[in-house]
Amino acid sequence: MQSRETTLRELCSRHEQDHVFTFWDRLTPDQRDMLLSDLERVRFEEMPALLRIVAAGTEHPHYDRIEPPVCVRRPVDTRGDERTALGESLLSRSAVAALLVAGGQGTRLGFDGPKGAFRISPVRQKPLFQLFAEQILATDRRYGGRTRWYIMTSEANDAETRAFFEQHRRFGLPLDQISFFKQGSMPAFSLDGRMILESPHRLALSPDGHGGSLLAMATTGVLADMAGRGIEHVGYFQVDNPLVRCLDPFFIGLHAERGSEMSSKTVPKASDDEKVGVFAICDGVLRVLEYSDLPNELAKARQPDGSRRFDAGSIAVHILARTFVERLTADPAAFRLPWHRAVKKVSSVDLRTGQMVQPNAPNAVKLEAFVFDALPLAKNPVILETNRREEFSPVKNATGVDSVETSQRALSDRAARWLESAGVRVPRTAAGEYSGRYEISPLRAMEAAHLREGPPLPREVRGDVYVDAT
Ligand code: UD1
Repeated sequence: MQSRETTLRELCSRHEQDHVFTFWDRLTPDQRDMLLSDLERVRFEEMPALLRIVAAGTEHPHYDRIEPPVCVRRPVDTRGDERTALGESLLSRSAVAALLVAGGQGTRLGFDGPKGAFRISPVRQKPLFQLFAEQILATDRRYGGRTRWYIMTSEANDAETRAFFEQHRRFGLPLDQISFFKQGSMPAFSLDGRMILESPHRLALSPDGHGGSLLAMATTGVLADMAGRGIEHVGYFQVDNPLVRCLDPFFIGLHAERGSEMSSKTVPKASDDEKVGVFAICDGVLRVLEYSDLPNELAKARQPDGSRRFDAGSIAVHILARTFVERLTADPAAFRLPWHRAVKKVSSVDLRTGQMVQPNAPNAVKLEAFVFDALPLAKNPVILETNRREEFSPVKNATGVDSVETSQRALSDRAARWLESAGVRVPRTAAGEYSGRYEISPLRAMEAAHLREGPPLPREVRGDVYVDAT
């Protein structure tokens, strides 16, 4: 049998990537092993296609006809609705799993560590992971199921993420209710199509995008695990939105009732240039057009009544039928979502000197797959329009738009509204804004109506208020 080194050298040579062995003679045995391990993660069989995308430059997809989609609007009160009842019964049978994609690098937030470890809640400073864990616990207590939580990490943050959960005793969730799995990696390429070395013995690898979740579910055994447990639907959400309702009975029921393979939530866009993807029917097919692919004239287009024409913003909350993911990935070697190309700055090693080079201009192409590109492949997709103030305020940046401050404010304001709806007087400033900070444990309420069911609340609150489970 050929040695690993020979096999990988041959592959590199076939795809004109021999430069990655430039420093081989100087590497220690451990370093050689690391380089070979990195190379084993490269999908060489896809290399010609990848190199074509790298060379092609960024092209925005062209469609002849782009139209707004039809969305189902969420009723103000979903209690008593037959779709809610269906969702609740699926949750009580543990037929729905939660899937959190948390493999991203969180560069914009400037936080050192897995993004889910970021402390976001306005009073107790709970990390994002804890808010999600408590929702899952609360869902199980309410409906009597045992919801399995799959967390996708990446090579860069897997160990730290697992350690964080252990350190916090999984926020009360039993050991066997959480599964971590790692997404794939993708090398960064120089503009002329060579894999970048980030050190003499390491490739510059980064996560392959959240679209990598579908393939990783197949290759890491997650799908088989789900099938074995009778899980039929997968509630997909991102790590950056502390307001997310990750297991929403109405949404689950709507998706199941329609026999949808992939359903998505939307909110009306906040502004023409809000950085969210938009749902659109492109040449007859429902898709998400990512904000970076949305031509300006479409972002600004208006209906005759003056409202925004492409207004259905994606909040990156989906439900996928397990059988849909199985169908797509039945032959993992043949399954591909399109690669999206971004030109970024990546530090690299100078192949002549072995010295590190920090680029001052973008020098590298990174490729990522996006999960919403599965939407055009899904049968009976449904889009549910929901209320932004209730469900969406992502923390993407350290300051400004979609920042820690705006997200904490949204959490606090939502808690204040729920308290008011339960008859509690909440003080406001002269300008009508809530004064003080408010936080409600998900274990006490996941929506306003739950707050009215529990133990009595004070008639009035003031200052920083935390409403606990009991
Ligand atoms: C994303 C969506 C956008 C949507 C918006 C809503 C993309 C490309 N765009 O924008 O359409 O309107 O959220 O907030 O997704 N992740 C991984 N692995 C990866 C890359 C990302 O798990 O390889 C996870 C991150 O941990 C995070 C999520 O995916 O939970 C979002 O990734 P990010 O790249 O920050 O997307 P946005 O540009 O914010």
